[in-house]
Amino acid sequence: MKLFRTSSLLAAAALAFGALTMANPVMAAEAGPTPERQNWSFAGPFGQFDRAQLQRGFFVYREVCQNCHSLSRVAFRNLSEKGGPEFSESQIKALAAEYPIKDFNDAGEPIERPGRPADYFPKRYPNDDAAKAAQGAVPPDLSVMAKARSYSRGFPLFLLDMLPGMAYQEHGVDYIYALLAKGYTKADDEKWNAYFPGHTIAMAKPMGDGRVDYTDGSPKTLDQYTRDVSAFLMWAAEPKLEERKKTGLRVMLFLLVFAGLLYFTKKKVWADAH
Ligand code: HEC
Repeated sequence: MKLFRTSSLLAAAALAFGALTMANPVMAAEAGPTPERQNWSFAGPFGQFDRAQLQRGFFVYREVCQNCHSLSRVAFRNLSEKGGPEFSESQIKALAAEYPIKDFNDAGEPIERPGRPADYFPKRYPNDDAAKAAQGAVPPDLSVMAKARSYSRGFPLFLLDMLPGMAYQEHGVDYIYALLAKGYTKADDEKWNAYFPGHTIAMAKPMGDGRVDYTDGSPKTLDQYTRDVSAFLMWAAEPKLEERKKTGLRVMLFLLVFAGLLYFTKKKVWADAH
């Protein structure tokens, strides 16, 4: 009995400690409504990206977001690698060549040359001051944005986040979706956003229905554009997501089989011990 009491006390202490340390106050109360959870193909233990969606999302990025934002941790060739949008190598060659890249010639003089697949996306502005002067605020680099924004789920849901497979890892994309597709609700104020902390955002509503021409028959709506570009940004932030989930599953399977073997071994070893 005493042992039972001690152990439940310990468990309660561990829970309280968890509550204090795991609750993640990145977005404080003034942040406005908590973004709603969306359905993403890449969520959950079996999650994988939807290739066509990543390709469309990249087009939205290129047509719209790139006018202000950078994606400087992504190299052109990443877009043809496995687990991503998987554009063909010739598509990537053509795409890279559209971007002027600053380089040096053999004499050491600065030049601009067409991009190559191994180059990274060039920065939109030479530095933050230039970006701020042009846009009123610095448009953040979007390479890891989908992982940089998270919010607390509070008790008791955050307990689920500790379990493999149940964890909620889509905070960032849900936020980007809410921000762009649901946040601009005041027709007379382009810079008011329900989901942006403080509500006054320097980014005026960047797109609406019909802004990007899709060629695969997908709806040309703000909702679809936003889902696609958010998925693309999730890939940019975690290009190895598919690999990680597959490895996770293999590890779980191995542990299950191993636990079974241990159980039968134990039974056998102790079978004659009376
Ligand atoms: C006309 C310029 C412009 C365009 C186009 C634009 N943005 Fe922005 N964006 C900004 C600026 C400026 C900020 C900084 C806002 C601030 O700090 O108030 C920003 C901020 C953001 C943020 C961060 C919000 C936060 O929580 O800090 C995200 C996410 C974002 N933009 C996504 C996008 C996406 C996705 C697109 C393309 C669909 C896009 N933006 C198009 C200018 C732009």
